[in-house]
Amino acid sequence: MNSTAIAASGLRKAYGDKTVLDGIDLNIGTGTIFSLLGPNGAGKTTTVNVLTTLLKADGGTASVAGHDIAADTKAVRAAIGVTGQFAAVDDLLTGAENLQLMADIHRLRGAEGKRVIGGLLERFDLLESAGKRAATYSGGMRRKLDLAMTLVTKPRIVFLDEPTTGLDPRSRRTMWEIVRELTSDGVTIFLTTQYLEEADQLADRIAVLDGGRIVAEGTAEELKRQVPGSHIRLRFTTATDLDAAARVLPESTRDDEALTLRVPGDAGSKSIRRLLDRLDEHALDADEVSVHTPDLDDVFLSLTGHATTEVVAP
Ligand SMILES: Nc1ncnc2c1ncn2[C@@H]1O[C@H](COP(=O)(O)OP(=O)(O)OP(=O)(O)O)[C@@H](O)[C@H]1O
Ligand SMILES: [Mg+2]
Repeated sequence: MNSTAIAASGLRKAYGDKTVLDGIDLNIGTGTIFSLLGPNGAGKTTTVNVLTTLLKADGGTASVAGHDIAADTKAVRAAIGVTGQFAAVDDLLTGAENLQLMADIHRLRGAEGKRVIGGLLERFDLLESAGKRAATYSGGMRRKLDLAMTLVTKPRIVFLDEPTTGLDPRSRRTMWEIVRELTSDGVTIFLTTQYLEEADQLADRIAVLDGGRIVAEGTAEELKRQVPGSHIRLRFTTATDLDAAARVLPESTRDDEALTLRVPGDAGSKSIRRLLDRLDEHALDADEVSVHTPDLDDVFLSLTGHATTEVVAP
């Protein structure tokens, strides 16, 4: 499971003299969920379009499922599924007909086609509405149908460009469950989102994209630890201990009422150990140690100098 599903190096794309991707590097492990997080206009869709061969990069290289995106377009396309930012669903067709259309395009005929379509309708809880026109579907149902259409060919790598934008919290959760289920089958997910919570909930690794550059990359926890606001809180049993500890840790802020010290700095295990060692040297012991990390909102603000345009899910 350690192999690489998607790798990119120095990807660049410009429209006229406007640089949209300014050197994107990626390394995404097979079977993982990777999230590209960024505000409107950051370059998320452009990145997806380049990696899925819909758009040619001006510079840099990338391979998807082991195939070069420039030289091996066909092989890349055969390995992937893409659910775009705007649903590919045909409103005039029923749910089942939309899926049948995908099966036809990919020459999935007869009993096998029927079996795959039936399976997807069931899995996405769309059996009851399968015979109704997509125009009558709710936003959440359309998104599900859209993703089901992508899965007709059983792709090993799935690109989801803002799959839950505009969905209500319940439909969003359903979508999250579906995405998680996909990875349990070993599928790799490349997901773009403007929702910090979504990246936090789903992604194994997150890259923060801003103005065509990746300004930070890591697990949600790693990202949160990078920004100021991380601190360790130590609670003591007596005011005497608190006094003594405050002298040992002059960088801390004390709260006499709560008998706590707040020590700024990165909240990794090494820092905690170092801190406790310093207390130990003075025969001091904290009654309680807690680690506080900022949320992804803080991360985004700190990394990009501006808040996400849409922080709160509708
Ligand atoms: N065909 C195009 N011609 C000129 N500029 C474009 C074109 N497509 C995208 N852009 C510009 O490239 C930048 C990145 O666009 P992109 O669609 O990749 O952003 P995004 O992160 O997907 O945003 P959103 O969250 O709104 O979907 C934007 O400034 C956009 O205006
Ligand atoms: Mg987009």
